[in-house]
Amino acid sequence: MKVLLLGVDGELGWPLALKLAKAGHEVIGVDNLSTRRMAYESGTDSVFPLPSPAERVMEAKRHLDVDINFIIGDITQPGLLKDLIRKFRPDAIVHFAEQRSAPYSMKDEEHAVFTIQNNLIGTMRLVYAVKEVDPTIHIVKMGTMGEYGTPNFDIPEDIEVEAEINGKRDRILVPRKGGSWYHWSKVFDTDVLYYANQLWGLTVTDIMQGPVYGTRTSEIVHESMRTRFDIDEAWGTVVNRFCAEAVIGHPLTVYGKGGQTRGFISLEDSVTAVKLLIEHPPDQGKYRVVNQFAEVYSVRQIAEMVREAAEKVGLGKVEVHHLENPRVEKEEHHYNPTRRILPSLGFRPTRTLRDEVPYMLEDLLPYKERIERFREGIPPKTTWR
Ligand SMILES: NC(=O)c1ccc[n+]([C@@H]2O[C@H](COP(=O)([O-])OP(=O)(O)OC[C@H]3O[C@@H](n4cnc5c(N)ncnc54)[C@H](O)[C@@H]3O)[C@@H](O)[C@H]2O)c1
Repeated sequence: MKVLLLGVDGELGWPLALKLAKAGHEVIGVDNLSTRRMAYESGTDSVFPLPSPAERVMEAKRHLDVDINFIIGDITQPGLLKDLIRKFRPDAIVHFAEQRSAPYSMKDEEHAVFTIQNNLIGTMRLVYAVKEVDPTIHIVKMGTMGEYGTPNFDIPEDIEVEAEINGKRDRILVPRKGGSWYHWSKVFDTDVLYYANQLWGLTVTDIMQGPVYGTRTSEIVHESMRTRFDIDEAWGTVVNRFCAEAVIGHPLTVYGKGGQTRGFISLEDSVTAVKLLIEHPPDQGKYRVVNQFAEVYSVRQIAEMVREAAEKVGLGKVEVHHLENPRVEKEEHHYNPTRRILPSLGFRPTRTLRDEVPYMLEDLLPYKERIERFREGIPPKTTWR
């Protein structure tokens, strides 16, 4: 298949590009390198130094014998997506190209406005480009489990549910409740995609994914192939941050009670699942919601797992500190999301968090000095209130 991958330079985009290309798909990637710039702006960087786009493409050719077309461009610019779709005629478009840090979106008014603008305009440009040039293209959009919030009911895997309000029944959109401006931008994305599906019959897979962790995929066969790995308060997701903290002897930074519970998935399983969804599109004109995670844990349980693994590999005594929670969120809550689409396609997670953490520590150890350089960026500074 021919895949246009928006956000190819990102933590998930690059390993997905490698996996798709290695499987024989043609990959045309687009990225404006904004995550690199925003991380520098926050005074931090990926722990694994990132090669330039041209070097990435060369290394992929050298180690995997694949050709990836890497185009620098901003998808919010008028005309860009239409031109690319006309030129390359993709079967599927994967949309990862968004500002993806919740804390970054909460820094101040300008960061909040930027997040909403970048994410919403990109999605609007995408639906109009597909509608105008080829409405049969399968849109694969990466949302987040965070769109649902933490409701006191089991989270469905659907766009609509049956509801009864004041004695009358109807189908309504599944209730969503973002926990930051970033998460709300994802909720609005879903609204845009769903409306485009209803208006024009666009075919959409809307993936609700939990936090991703890990350093390895089957295609990352050399240091130069590594994807970005962030560890600071704005860009580091929880498992990645805890592992880096353990490597430099920094206490693990649990926010509040640490009862916040989420569905996690390894990098390898995340990109494998997206590949499967691309290869098995829904029927034309259908809107498919996919809840994408492998295991459910609380932050407290993760801290315990990282502490045990770090002490086992000889990193010394690891402390766990409970910090005042900078976020506005429930610290103890019900959490039971449904998951049926990926299993129905034969997807079985191949990694567990417990097994993967020791590999992450092993991969991070050679970069200890570089992690030390970003130490100041670890404690939370961005507050929600
Ligand atoms: N990493 C996770 O744990 C996780 C979990 C759930 C959902 N997601 C979602 O998955 C997607 C990919 O996440 P990631 O971790 O790879 O993030 P990332 O920031 O590493 O990658 C996103 C890429 O998109 C690019 N980009 C942003 N705006 C752009 C624009 N206007 N034009 C062109 N390129 C643009 C960035 O430069 C970056 O390379 C995001 O939409 C994110 O919200 C990620």
